Amino acid sequence: MIKKCLFPAAGYGTRFLPATKSIPKEMLPLVTKPLIQYGVEEAINAGCDTIAMVVSKYKKSIEDHFDNNTDIQSSINGTSKENLLNPLNNIIENTTFSYTRQLEMKGLGHAILTGQTLIGDESFAVILADDVCHSQNDSVLSQMMSIHEKYPQHCIVAIEEIPLKNTNKYGVISGEEIENNLFRVDNMIEKPEPKDAPSNLAIIGRYILTPDIFEVIKNTSPSKGGEIQITDALLTLAKKGKVLAYKFDGKRFDCGSIDGFIEATNYFYEREARDEI
Ligand code: UTP
Repeated sequence: MIKKCLFPAAGYGTRFLPATKSIPKEMLPLVTKPLIQYGVEEAINAGCDTIAMVVSKYKKSIEDHFDNNTDIQSSINGTSKENLLNPLNNIIENTTFSYTRQLEMKGLGHAILTGQTLIGDESFAVILADDVCHSQNDSVLSQMMSIHEKYPQHCIVAIEEIPLKNTNKYGVISGEEIENNLFRVDNMIEKPEPKDAPSNLAIIGRYILTPDIFEVIKNTSPSKGGEIQITDALLTLAKKGKVLAYKFDGKRFDCGSIDGFIEATNYFYEREARDEI
């Protein structure tokens, strides 16, 4: 069973400047909860007890968020505001957090390779915190964990249908549907123009990876934007029939973009308002 979830969180988040000049993108809140906490909660809910983060020297506030703040805690102890921190305190008490730094931002594939030291030789989950997912029933990562139980030797990527005009923002796959909503991937291309896209099935920020991915990334050359792309590394494994793509049940917000971030803010605000009624 997968216990470790890797969070590549070293990117600069330039689309949110000036906000992200000194605040990590992952710490921007949807209402009152930072993006990264949504991701960590999803990982824990899916059965992970170890959170491995790939960060940079600009991301210290992520570490602080998942640590005690004794001054704030003593100022709210015994008041109704304790409830605002209790869920996070619970996570901190019951979860192992480990961090490593990516020294140069050479892409998502490189960030995942940087996390090898925290993961070791076992299968692991990956969450990109700027893709926030919400499902009525099992979370997206929980759904993927169920597939992993049946296909433990395969890498699994989460996919969704997108308008064809947007393929140049995503990794795009093609493959044969082997079960309802589950595809065996035969091709994947990073950010293709619509005319070159193998389908309109785009990879979103949830992965389950087998440890052989690290060796493959080491042998993957930089491509689009001079970055080492996880899509290129996965293509090597897809050619051996070792990659599955899962069309998940739920909603995804691209909180790495301003439109997606605002949409998610409204969605979660309305949900909270409804819960309070
Ligand atoms: P993005 O390209 O969406 O994030 O990377 P970014 O680079 O931070 O954002 P913009 O485009 O400048 O606004 C997807 C994920 O991969 C991580 C990012 O932190 C994000 O979670 N990433 C990307 C790394 O950790 N290291 C990298 O070198 C690149």
